[in-house]
Amino acid sequence: MPRKPSARVLVADDHVEMARLLADQLGDNGYLVDVAASGAEALELARSRPPDLVVTDLRMDGVDGLDVLSGIQQIDATVPVIIMTAFGAIDSAIEAIKHGAYHYLTKPFQLQELLVYVERAIADRRLRDDHRALRRLVSERSGLQAMVGRSSAMLDLFEFVERVAPSDAAVLIRGESGTGKELVARALHFLSPRSKRPFVAVSCTSLPEALLESELFGHVQGAFSGALSTRRGLFAEADGGTLLLDEIGDMPPELQAKLLRVLQDNEIRAVGADVTRKIDVRVLAATHQPIEERVDQGAFRADLFYRLNVVPIRVPALRERVEDIPLLVEHFVEKTRRSNPTARVSACSPELLSALADYPWPGNVRELENVVKRLVIVGSGETATLDDLRRHAPALLETTPPVAWENRQPLPLRTIENDYIAWVVRQTGGNKKRAAQILGIDESTLHRREKRGSESGAPKRRQH
Ligand SMILES: Nc1ncnc2c1ncn2[C@@H]1O[C@H](COP(=O)(O)OP(=O)(O)OP(=O)(O)O)[C@@H](O)[C@H]1O
Ligand SMILES: [Mg+2]
Repeated sequence: MPRKPSARVLVADDHVEMARLLADQLGDNGYLVDVAASGAEALELARSRPPDLVVTDLRMDGVDGLDVLSGIQQIDATVPVIIMTAFGAIDSAIEAIKHGAYHYLTKPFQLQELLVYVERAIADRRLRDDHRALRRLVSERSGLQAMVGRSSAMLDLFEFVERVAPSDAAVLIRGESGTGKELVARALHFLSPRSKRPFVAVSCTSLPEALLESELFGHVQGAFSGALSTRRGLFAEADGGTLLLDEIGDMPPELQAKLLRVLQDNEIRAVGADVTRKIDVRVLAATHQPIEERVDQGAFRADLFYRLNVVPIRVPALRERVEDIPLLVEHFVEKTRRSNPTARVSACSPELLSALADYPWPGNVRELENVVKRLVIVGSGETATLDDLRRHAPALLETTPPVAWENRQPLPLRTIENDYIAWVVRQTGGNKKRAAQILGIDESTLHRREKRGSESGAPKRRQH
């Protein structure tokens, strides 16, 4: 693994020989090393020469390893601390992890093992620093809630967004529901030269065709019954700025043709108007559907697709970046507390976090946000636990697919299918449209199959 030079490691052990041995080995591996022969000395050194990482023995006279840990956290909470323990002191080692130690090693350990953790801890911290810088940038310049993420997928995404934002290129943002597509769109706008002008978002699903047209392009008074006054339309409102066309895959075909013309000519004609008007709008589009399929089916114009898809951006599903979950949870705990000052919960237990990391999150970040919000609001203690999850979001723990081949008798295909369909529907939180998409069947077929499944008396799901 390539290592950036000159990371500073502080080694604390009251067995001087041990400390020196570690220092030599770390030094041989390119680290700058400071050695402390006691916990007190370690904290003193940490103040005068801030380390990038601390390796400390747990059991020391006076200031012990746990004290060093909490002292370092006060000096700089981002510095990872690796704890060394004697065999048999596992309980205190686990205590140390609970208090935020990066890792513990039981003596005797292989030096190689220590080196792996040292390297990993330093790399993790660098990533987080980089991310923090980016996050600041996004939130400062966008005046928006920050986009949280430390996974390499999200760091790549942030970098890409920054690179693409200043151009005027059309961007098609794809990703499952709730992954943060709108946040990406906002970041693209607020990191562009258009940031002082309006950002306008419209969902192409929400309105019938005629209304959507006047919503987008405006109408003149009397253009249709109900058009009591003139309306500018969202393109005109976004003039000089950015327009996000959300759920673009649902745009009706006739409007697709009109939109294409607007994008080609940079001018709009309000419904019922005889004149056109020049506009300067950067168009972003978002979709959670595999839009190429709609193109193949003839439901979406290929020429419009190419025009919107000059730069494609894919926002990864949350289950593809499980590493982001702890940071997101922390973020949503704080966010919920800000708007609910009486909430008691300020943290989550490790078991709860690990259950959250195991869940596949079909509704992605939005679903996670809702669950965390619920836990913070209903929780009675300072720390939300797995028990709270069991009580307040039991569906989350029912994530194993019902069909476990290894443990079951051979079954008729139909039974397995019904069981599986029911599970997918549950996974999507009852969103039939989404479930049908995942299953690759029509929504009407799904309804039929569900009906048949319940009539055939398929056994109800076991409750855990
Ligand atoms: N990386 C992130 N950091 C913080 N909050 C996030 C992040 N991603 C998403 N969110 C939050 O999750 C919610 C859903 O995000 P957003 O509306 O951008 O998703 P979307 O992909 O547009 O969803 P949909 O397809 O349903 O429209 C919002 O409340 C948003 O603030
Ligand atoms: Mg959205």
